[in-house]
Amino acid sequence: MQIKGNTFIVTGGGSGLGLSAARELLRLEANVVVIDLKDDGKSFFKGQEKNVLFVQANVTSEEEISKAIQQAIDKFGGNIRGVVNCGGIFSVGKIVDQNGKPLDLESFKFTINVNLVGTFNVCRLVAAQMVKQKPLEEGNASFIIYKIFRPIYD
Ligand SMILES: NC(=O)c1ccc[n+]([C@@H]2O[C@H](COP(=O)([O-])OP(=O)(O)OC[C@H]3O[C@@H](n4cnc5c(N)ncnc54)[C@H](O)[C@@H]3O)[C@@H](O)[C@H]2O)c1
Repeated sequence: MQIKGNTFIVTGGGSGLGLSAARELLRLEANVVVIDLKDDGKSFFKGQEKNVLFVQANVTSEEEISKAIQQAIDKFGGNIRGVVNCGGIFSVGKIVDQNGKPLDLESFKFTINVNLVGTFNVCRLVAAQMVKQKPLEEGNASFIIYKIFRPIYD
């Protein structure tokens, strides 16, 4: 796929895996929309504002992600060709602890909501934009890298 000149969304792009993915896409001369809950990572893209749009948004929010996609279209045009889902949280816990206490259900639900529901939310909203776009001449319409983060409870 032609990366240069096309637009890609990276969630969790302010840190770790997402930051690396965003940097690699920029190296390949893409336009990159970085979506992150926190704005700490914005400074990593200083001086690259022409090709980077940093949007502070929560992957679990339909409203915030829809707005971010619209901002991407306003800045780079309607050529979103990919999304890399790295926005998420790391969560580890035993299903039952040494004292027989079961894992807190709310913390399990929170992890599932961010890592699974949030990832799906971004995919479905970006996909709805992608299907409106003209396929590239080379034939590849777009790609979605959908990561399902499995909480480890062992
Ligand atoms: N690094 C690894 O080797 C590895 C391996 C397996 C799974 N993972 C999972 O991949 C994900 C990313 O890992 P990482 O190492 O880059 O973590 P990281 O903490 O460095 O980066 C995650 C980013 O996602 C953002 N984020 C968190 N919740 C968000 C939300 N609701 N909406 C938008 N952004 C949100 C954070 O602000 C952060 O910038 C995590 O869920 C992690 O558990 C990482």
